[in-house]
Formats: sequence, C-alpha cells, structure tokens
Amino acid sequence: MNTQEASFRLAAVVVAAGSGTRMGTNFPKQYALIEGKTMLEHSVSALLEEPRIEQLVIVISPSDLIGQQLKFTDPRVKIARVGGASRADSIRNGITYSGLSANDWVLTHDAARPCVKASDVAKLIDYCLKTDEGGILAVPVSDTIKQQNAAGKIGKTIPRDKLWAAQTPQCFKVGPLTKALSNTEAVVTDEASAMEASGFKPALIEGSSTNFKVTRPADLALARAVFRARAAGEDI
Ligand code: C5P
Repeated sequence: MNTQEASFRLAAVVVAAGSGTRMGTNFPKQYALIEGKTMLEHSVSALLEEPRIEQLVIVISPSDLIGQQLKFTDPRVKIARVGGASRADSIRNGITYSGLSANDWVLTHDAARPCVKASDVAKLIDYCLKTDEGGILAVPVSDTIKQQNAAGKIGKTIPRDKLWAAQTPQCFKVGPLTKALSNTEAVVTDEASAMEASGFKPALIEGSSTNFKVTRPADLALARAVFRARAAGEDI
C-alpha cells in the first residue's frame, strides 16, 4: 500500500444479527449451509478476497450461540456480539467496534448475500475511492413493478426504466454515514436510505443479479444452484 492510500482505512461490517423469520428455519438463516459452508462464511470469504479491506467485523446478536463459535483463519476477521434491535443499530455498533475514524471508509454487507462476487466488490470500492463519493451495488429492475391499492389490487404501474434494486455491499465514508444513521428517524432498510435522508445522492454501481438476498427457502435453493454452477465453471 502506498502512503497516499494509507491516509485512510477501509473496513467491512457484515451484519448477521437479524431474526430471519421468513426463512422458516429454527436457527438464524445465515447459518444455513451451502456446499458445506454457512451462508455467513460465504459472504465473508467473498469480501476477504479484497486486499484493501483491512478489517472485517461480523455483527451477531449477543444471544447468538452459533456465531460466537465460528472460527475464521484470516486475522482480519473479528466477531462482534453487538447486534442491535434494527439493522441501522447493528451497523452503527459494528462501525464503533471497528474503531474506524470519520475519514475512513466502511463497506456494509448483509450476511444473507452469500453469492456476492469479489469482482463487483472491487468495482464498488474502485469507484468510491476514486471519486470520494459513497455508492452501492445495485441491478436494474427487469420486472414490471405494480403498486398495490387499498383494495389489494393494482393501483398503478411504476415505470421501470429508472428503477434499480439495491444490494450490498454499500460503501460510505464513516463520518457522514454514522451521522446519517443517527439522524434518521424512519426505519431504514439500507445505509443508502439513511444517506439519502441526509441529502446525499449515492452512486449506483451495477452489480450482478446473482447477488440476491437469501430471504425465503426458495432463495437458499437458488444460492446453492449458483455455487454449483460456479463450481462447474460458469461465470455467474
Ligand atoms: O431482515 P433483512 O433480511 O432485511 O436483514 C438484512 C441483513 O441485516 C441481514 O444480514 C440481517 O442479519 C441484518 N440485520 C441485523 N440486525 C438487525 C436486523 C437485520 O444485523 N437488527
């Protein structure tokens, strides 16, 4: 690393403290197995392929007995039992645990996105560090989107040409992000929403549709299929 790069640090915070109730398993969904490894381990491994990540904090719930026993050989990984009531709390607590300063960068990632590609992670980091702007991985929406009315029928169709589905990782400077997360009163489902509420316009970096969030049992079957296809040499 040259002296210019060393003037700030880049750490990742992987959040794995949600309840995962939609998965219907009797254990947290991030511990579901794909090719013999937990979803969380796959998410972490993909991020660790990025050498610019100096530290990776996994945020688990204080009551999570499985997570605290996981062992990672990479010395960059720290397991922090600091999960909060909301995703924003878990992210904030993870950033505090990392010891990052306001001028450092943080990459936030859902444990439930095990298929993230290291090349997309690198693309996001390249963009943010080069432009000094925050950004997120996202994919253009390909379905036609309908908004439901009060009767549960189609109220209107939302033109999809400018719609993107937000993914993680999301990459922001620590100072503005922590301030944005503390200032937002609404429930935010990603870090970009908090930044938007603070007046920022995060960049959309096109990622891959395989970086979906594993939420329901069918998603887990799809994630397993993605890993099988990659093992067979497909670049997906
Ligand atoms: O619930 P959802 O799937 O949107 O959660 C996205 C990510 O945020 C998951 O990886 C989940 O573990 C994490 N999360 C968290 N703390 C919470 C809620 C969600 O770490 N209180």
